[in-house]
Amino acid sequence: MRLAFDPGPRPRGLDAFLGEIPDALFDDRTFACCELVARYADDLALDLARRLNLAPALARGASTAELASGLGFADSFRPALESLLGRLAAAGELERSPCDCGAAVWVAPRPLREPELAELRARGLELDPAMAPSLDLLDAAAAAYPAVAAGLTTGEHELFSAGRIALWLAYFSNRNPVYALNNLQTAVVAARRLGARPGARVLEVGGGAGSFSVALLEELDRQGRLADLALYDFTEPSPFFRRRGERELHARFPGVALRARGLDIDLPYEEQGPVDGPYDLAVGVNVLHVARDLVATLTRLREALRPGGWLVAGECLRLFPDQPVPADLVFQIFRSFTEVSTDPELRPSHGFLEPSSWRRALAAAGFEEVSVVPDLDRIRDLYPRFFAGVVLGRRPL
Ligand SMILES: C[S@@+](CC[C@H](N)C(=O)[O-])C[C@H]1O[C@@H](n2cnc3c(N)ncnc32)[C@H](O)[C@@H]1O
Repeated sequence: MRLAFDPGPRPRGLDAFLGEIPDALFDDRTFACCELVARYADDLALDLARRLNLAPALARGASTAELASGLGFADSFRPALESLLGRLAAAGELERSPCDCGAAVWVAPRPLREPELAELRARGLELDPAMAPSLDLLDAAAAAYPAVAAGLTTGEHELFSAGRIALWLAYFSNRNPVYALNNLQTAVVAARRLGARPGARVLEVGGGAGSFSVALLEELDRQGRLADLALYDFTEPSPFFRRRGERELHARFPGVALRARGLDIDLPYEEQGPVDGPYDLAVGVNVLHVARDLVATLTRLREALRPGGWLVAGECLRLFPDQPVPADLVFQIFRSFTEVSTDPELRPSHGFLEPSSWRRALAAAGFEEVSVVPDLDRIRDLYPRFFAGVVLGRRPL
């Protein structure tokens, strides 16, 4: 059976809940690109089920542990396998039933459908050729699965080797419409919280090669506020990404007082060189969910702010418990993503969090005026795959 891909226009009524996010950032084309990527991830999961030889055991019914031991998968592959099975279930390909053994049993009620990767890629490039890096990164991750499953290598080794850098630079880019949404909406929210304040100091964590920094500085420039900045403290632990980011930011914004340095969000800041706070604004896009101890990391960020200063973090979010997000297919094979401390209340599982978990974690770290923008609790009932949000909180005055 062939499945048509026709996402149509974005759901009506969404605009009412975008709040301070301009409608133009989530137009029909961006919506269609996001839908295409979600469908591509589902079809890659079907393709992986074949490549990992999951189908015979799934036809009989098996728990994740039985599948893993029957096929000789490494223990470290377990989170990625669980996520892959969850994605197939969410796509209607598997049923998940409880078993006396305590674990869930996954069953394929009929043969898994054939993936349509080539057709979907062609359709995606027709929609917007600039979305290619999102599909390329998913493909690269999927290609690594069999060797990672067999314990022959790690996701980090396969996807962070020198030959792969171009893939990441193209993906974390404001030219890639699927990723840019994270940066652009975070930039709008962050610029607003910074307020018109001469002498403002901004700390960015996990700045990578600077795609969010560019989005924020462009937004401030558009508003004629670049001259307000006394310091843009651009931090990123990877020297390669940091140097790329620093070069680009100096070239694009020569008048901005930029400082580039390494900073690990898991460690106390005083141990890592001089702290130039207190900051008016702390920002980061798609970095805080890898914090090993989320509340400790958020607490450090709060302490680095002046009273009344804001933390604004762009994050990929899941809108329902265990909901698969396309980026899971890439990041579930990374230890930095899976090996974090969990807590039933504040951080129920590793990986991308739900808006309610972020709100609880920020409150536990002492932030006030905690919120998630746009209003994803309302949006999810109209469109359950709006995976980009901005989480924010303020240091009490
Ligand atoms: C998903 S990338 C986002 C990069 C950048 N914010 C952007 O949007 O272009 C996450 C970044 O977080 C950085 N990172 C990972 N672990 C970190 C840690 N413990 N402390 C600080 N940054 C970290 C990575 O090196 C990477 O550059």
